[in-house]
Amino acid sequence: MAQLEVSDFAQAVIDRMAECKDPRFHQIMSSLVKHAHAFMREVDLTPQEWMAGIQFLTATGQKCDDKRQEFILLSDTLGLSMLVVALDQARGARALADQPGEKPTEATVQGPFFWAGAPQLELGADIGEGHPGEPTYYHGRVTDTFGQPIANCEVDVWSGDADGLYDMQKGDNMSLRAQFRTDQEGNYRFWSIKPTFYPVPGDGPVGTMLDRMGRHLNRPGHMHMMLQAPGHERLVTHIFVKDSPYLDSDAVFGVRNSLIVEFPKHAPGRAPDGRHMNKPYYTAEYDFRLVPSAA
Ligand code: BEZ
Ligand code: FE
Repeated sequence: MAQLEVSDFAQAVIDRMAECKDPRFHQIMSSLVKHAHAFMREVDLTPQEWMAGIQFLTATGQKCDDKRQEFILLSDTLGLSMLVVALDQARGARALADQPGEKPTEATVQGPFFWAGAPQLELGADIGEGHPGEPTYYHGRVTDTFGQPIANCEVDVWSGDADGLYDMQKGDNMSLRAQFRTDQEGNYRFWSIKPTFYPVPGDGPVGTMLDRMGRHLNRPGHMHMMLQAPGHERLVTHIFVKDSPYLDSDAVFGVRNSLIVEFPKHAPGRAPDGRHMNKPYYTAEYDFRLVPSAA
């Protein structure tokens, strides 16, 4: 029998897939094997290091439960989640390349704190009321890439509190999240707080890995938004607070320049929706453009 040498194992594994019936799966697995073997050869991995890697992946799985997804956090902090988002948008852009219209809004990571079934509230509702934090009026318009308003678009919003903690991290009650629907002109508006920077969960194996890598855990302040409307691609994105720390070193590499928004501060008085504010407040305006699903 021909004996395999260091340089041969990857091809031998790939050859064993000759009976694989799914061409896309074949392509993905062949490439995974090729690159994983090349990585091990490149760093001349020792058995002790490989065992440490297996123990790390085991601990990552063991840390997962219905509220905590340590594998997604691993993917996020290694830049893999954002790479998949960027590849998906680039694929969409290629499909739209020879069509008229504006560029769609950029997407970013969903993160682990989306919670389906948030309360459906009237436009203009205040989801920050009763929560510490600086009041902020969010508003803007949802259109397609031709500037046509999208009425009745579902707009899910969620953020952490003034300490950067999400409701899911604190207990079972939903807070600082809601679902709105745009009006006939595609407008949305609501009150919440101005989000602060905060650390991703660091008490698991991914936190230990980041520490050993010499990295911080922080994400810049952001409001999560998910928009969906019939006939359009779902958009998962954030708006980022322009003066927030960590915009240049987001722990999950999610920042896109086009999503960084000014949060001007206003003196107490009449807010844009007519509400009387007896303390200073901020406003954040952002318009979203969704891609038609046929594209
Ligand atoms: C977040 O923004 O909520 C988030 C994203 C990725 C990892 C952890 C948190
Ligand atoms: Fe977040």
